[in-house]
Amino acid sequence: MTTYKIAVIAGDGIGREVVPPTIEVLEAAGKKFGIGFEFRPFDWSADHYFKHGRMMPADALDQLRPHDAILLGAVGHVDLPDNLTLNGLLLPIRRGFDQYANVRPAVLFEGVDSPLRNRAAGDIDMVVVRENTEGEYAQIGGFLYHKQPGEVAVQTSVFTRRGCERVIRHAFELARKRNKKKRVASITKSNAQGYSMVLWDRAFQAVAEEFPDIETESLLVDAAAMNFVRRPHTFDVVVASNLFGDILSDLSAIVAGSIGLAASANLDPERRYPSMFEPVHGTAPDILGKGIANPMAAMFSASMMLDHLGQAAAAGAVEGALAKALASGEAKSPDLGGKATTRQVTDRVLSAL
Ligand code: NAD
Ligand code: IPM
Ligand code: MN
Repeated sequence: MTTYKIAVIAGDGIGREVVPPTIEVLEAAGKKFGIGFEFRPFDWSADHYFKHGRMMPADALDQLRPHDAILLGAVGHVDLPDNLTLNGLLLPIRRGFDQYANVRPAVLFEGVDSPLRNRAAGDIDMVVVRENTEGEYAQIGGFLYHKQPGEVAVQTSVFTRRGCERVIRHAFELARKRNKKKRVASITKSNAQGYSMVLWDRAFQAVAEEFPDIETESLLVDAAAMNFVRRPHTFDVVVASNLFGDILSDLSAIVAGSIGLAASANLDPERRYPSMFEPVHGTAPDILGKGIANPMAAMFSASMMLDHLGQAAAAGAVEGALAKALASGEAKSPDLGGKATTRQVTDRVLSAL
């Protein structure tokens, strides 16, 4: 039996409510398909910060490195500044393990209502591939006259030809592998950002030439926001910079029904480091402790993890169980317009599996 070592960082808020049910689903899939898991929990979080003055230990990446994958819940706490928690835990893992492709599918499933009119299941089936290590998130800059009335902040975006090309190439390869509409849309803003986005466009054109079988379009990010609402059915793979991809993947999530279904994979496609799987959503302080967080986004992320580990059949079974539970109408948490609790959704998924 193949056994995988999985590092588990539940994190904060509803991260802690959606990760344990996701482990139940993985265990059940493992039993069915003869896969073993060694789940190793790491308590890195805001609570860790309150106790130790940092979100995770200094050697955190060394501790994570020997694992086959990382499963993460969410990070953020109302009593701590978000830039401290996220730059202390989530973002250093994405950067440190060079997880440069953040893959975020958005599918409208049977039994789920889109907030858009006249959308049937399957109409929306797209995936946002977000650059995940540089761009607007390079975290280069500083303050001058810090906290004085005339303070100045400088935050520098970094766009490298290598960084753009590799994530764009990943998007094209994904479009080929999906074998659906075989279309890649590039998100740009080169009308205003005359350096970074011009380089992005050049990288897109160069990589597109390697994939003559894939149709392309280039969209300004403002028009893309509109078109995600107006014609979501036309998108297949969408590739975007770090910040644009962050924003657009909340939009793709909601047109497909709920952020409570939106999964993501932070991939190191070259497999030098463990990749990390996490829901797109955050810690949801507004529903924390109510037992109604939708665990499906984390479960769909776990299915992406199985796929990455080479367990396609198990991945398909988990995704199939989630789809079946949604189609039954019996696994609708409040974000989907229903009344099901996290526990009830989980039980419905487990029985479908
Ligand atoms: P959020 O995603 O936590 O919540 C946005 C809205 O969606 C809320 O109304 C919430 O109740 C709802 N929601 C989110 N996930 C849900 C789920 N699984 N089931 C049902 N409803 C769900 O975003 P926010 O409110 O902007 O951020 C809250 C905190 O989370 C902040 O500290 C932020 O920095 C952090 N955050 C972390 C991550 C991450 O760890 N990857 C992602 C986004 C935000
Ligand atoms: C996401 C989140 C993070 C991001 C935040 C919490 C730093 O919004 O994963 O989408 O911006 O990448
Ligand atoms: Mn986000």
